[in-house]
Amino acid sequence: MKQPAEIAQPTGKLGILLVGLGAVSTTFIAGVMAVRKGIASPIGSLTQMGTIRLGKRTEGRSPLVKDLVPLASLDDLVFGGWDIFEDDSYSAARTAGVLDEGLLEQVRPELEAITPWPAVFDRRYVKRLDGPNVKRGANKMELAEQVREDIRRFKAEKGLDRLVMIWCGSTEIFMTPSPAHQSIEAFEAGLCANDVTIPSSMVYAYAALKEGIPFANGAPNLTVDVPALMALAQQNGCPIAGKDFKTGQTLIKTVVAPGMKARLIGVRGWYSTNILGNRDGEVLDDPESFKTKEESKKSVLDYILQPDLYPQLYKDLCHVVRINYYPPRGDNKEGWDNIDLVGWLGYPMQLKINFLCRDSILAAPIVLDLVLFLDLAARVGWSGIQEWLSFYFKSPMHAPELYPEHDLFIQLMKLKNTLRYLKGEELITHLGREYYD
Ligand SMILES: NC(=O)c1ccc[n+]([C@@H]2O[C@H](COP(=O)([O-])OP(=O)(O)OC[C@H]3O[C@@H](n4cnc5c(N)ncnc54)[C@H](O)[C@@H]3O)[C@@H](O)[C@H]2O)c1
Repeated sequence: MKQPAEIAQPTGKLGILLVGLGAVSTTFIAGVMAVRKGIASPIGSLTQMGTIRLGKRTEGRSPLVKDLVPLASLDDLVFGGWDIFEDDSYSAARTAGVLDEGLLEQVRPELEAITPWPAVFDRRYVKRLDGPNVKRGANKMELAEQVREDIRRFKAEKGLDRLVMIWCGSTEIFMTPSPAHQSIEAFEAGLCANDVTIPSSMVYAYAALKEGIPFANGAPNLTVDVPALMALAQQNGCPIAGKDFKTGQTLIKTVVAPGMKARLIGVRGWYSTNILGNRDGEVLDDPESFKTKEESKKSVLDYILQPDLYPQLYKDLCHVVRINYYPPRGDNKEGWDNIDLVGWLGYPMQLKINFLCRDSILAAPIVLDLVLFLDLAARVGWSGIQEWLSFYFKSPMHAPELYPEHDLFIQLMKLKNTLRYLKGEELITHLGREYYD
């Protein structure tokens, strides 16, 4: 057995900085409060309910993940955040309409106490939104300074030991890396010069990294996925992760596609459509924000099916993704997938999937796991991209020379082996010859 890593204990309070107090954030916060009170279960959270097998199958060792590695306790989480609307978290949760009134009433005072700080916001990057609770400053560097002041004040007032920031704000317009994103110096000059290629999400990420705080991106925006901010994360010892929470349709896609490929079943077409009526759906109704989401959703099949290795099975795959804003559904998204398959001797088959899910119910446990695992990574001393957290993302961040791993089962193996590695446990290869030799 190898030596376990040195991991600082999670003593004291962990501050969770949420950018955007909308449906996902309030469902996450209210959920943690309800779990703390023992009135609900943290279903969907690997850190709270997951187990991990250690050693051989004959050893019978499968502790809870949270008993293997030292994670912050739910009782030690303290929440703060920014939004362009002034609503406290209780009102925001009511507006989001995800959780029922009965549950919200039981955590109402705690939710009402979380009111958003003024946001860094510019309609140029999110066209379908506007709100009054917005910071003013001469340039983007000044706005970043104001975010850093919010963070320091929160830390001092609440007596926090450590912090993690997570972007749960709206999806920004599609952007590609620009010269201002290439180095820390160019980025800082861009902040001072109000460079248009630096959207609000990058201002928050910069502020977090300057404060030495881990950062995760739950939306498909570029945000921290540019050389300048990756370099800053390395320099300041901050773990980072992104992009775009893997919930709903893409979660199912990354479950089904590896299965088809495992059995060498061909895929000629994959048509995915959704109806969604929450504010996220409204923002994604703008073509520029939708393009960011579309790129994120579409990349997964290419990487999983590897058409370059299997041209006969997957080369001409027609992959279409649609999101339709349909207010009556609220957060209860409905996704349809029609998959045109090809089997033995070229015979066609079809698979239809109709997922009646709840977007924020699927996203909230991801937020919880990410903040706890990023805090763990920081206590281990890891910085930069945390590829082992790919499990949670539609567009996992990766080193430039690598392709991203999208297969949910490979991602899970990577995550669990990372935890085993941290504790000096044998990695599990599933070879299994030793039981028969
Ligand atoms: N719910 C899911 O299943 C899921 C999955 C993947 C990604 N996401 C992404 O997570 C994000 C949040 O989703 P949601 O359903 O909570 O959306 P939402 O619209 O309910 O919440 C987003 C909140 O962010 C605020 N906001 C926007 N720009 C901001 C800024 N610059 N600073 C501070 N606040 C800002 C908005 O006012 C809003 O309250 C979206 O980008 C969405 O695409 C959600």
